[in-house]
Amino acid sequence: MKIKMDDSVKELKAVWMDEKKVNMIDQRYLPSELKFFIAEDFKDIHSAIKNMVVRGAPTIGVTAAYGMAQAIIMDEDTRKAAEIIRSARPTAYDLFHAVDYMLDNITRPKEAAEEYASSVVEKCRKIGENGAKLIEDGYDILTHCNAGALATVDHGTALAPIRASARDGKDIHVYVDETRPRLQGARLTAWELYNEDISHSVIVDNASGYYMQRGDIDIVIVGTDRIVSNGDIANKIGTYEKAVVAKENDIPFYVAAPVTTYDELMEKGNDIPIESRDDDEVRMINGSLITPKRSPVKNPAFDVTPAKYITGYITEKGIFSPSERKEMF
Ligand code: MRU
Repeated sequence: MKIKMDDSVKELKAVWMDEKKVNMIDQRYLPSELKFFIAEDFKDIHSAIKNMVVRGAPTIGVTAAYGMAQAIIMDEDTRKAAEIIRSARPTAYDLFHAVDYMLDNITRPKEAAEEYASSVVEKCRKIGENGAKLIEDGYDILTHCNAGALATVDHGTALAPIRASARDGKDIHVYVDETRPRLQGARLTAWELYNEDISHSVIVDNASGYYMQRGDIDIVIVGTDRIVSNGDIANKIGTYEKAVVAKENDIPFYVAAPVTTYDELMEKGNDIPIESRDDDEVRMINGSLITPKRSPVKNPAFDVTPAKYITGYITEKGIFSPSERKEMF
């Protein structure tokens, strides 16, 4: 991904491994500071995923693959390392997929992890190529959370077709939901679009219905943490509402993801484990309390969008509708 520095432009990935260390852009500090986190071993990887130094399903998967590579190279108990890494976050299927992939490739850890990372990036590049066919010149696109390069090592899933369309010279504008409580839209998606010079406006989460109802949005594209057998998906809290409002207003709602996000053994969306995060993410903004001290809060990090609200899935294999999903996945 392109990152504008004071007097130059840098190309960086969200996470990469050199020798035995795993380097990542520390997403907790963006957009104000570009800082890096270095994981020395799989325990650091577990804490980086859990504390959202890195986040976004495909990036979580690649980081986990590198952590498993570290554990294998350092002769740690790999079953134990796998168990600890898997426990970092519950919703993104890529995490479990990546750990299983590494356990199947235990004799060549570094190569296998690098292959896994490159395949994620290549899949996202193709998602961009395929999804760009849905975006016409002059389109206004709504997206939720961050499903960009930061979330996928490079390119993005939901942001990949947007990047590809901008590169093709299409005149597009992106409405970026701020995405409370962690503000992945306001902090990370807006930062990526700024770095790529793609026209965008950050809106508060509650404003997307207003813009959809006015006819200002041509298409909604989001990423996902898990697609299950009946076609339901889990994505950042608030996605469900966007999908329902999109359907009400006849706006196509697309979910972009590599086919490895498909959990074929899980039957329906309500079976997906939904992460509950710390109360303080809701209670505090920039270190200041915004609720009465004693008010209890709830903080689910994801919700489920039923397949009936999804127009199609944009994957590296092509674009297909919920009714075509079994065959395609
Ligand atoms: O809690 P996060 O920031 O990891 O949630 C990220 C999302 O919900 C993304 O939309 C999803 O992981 C897809 S990333 C390509």
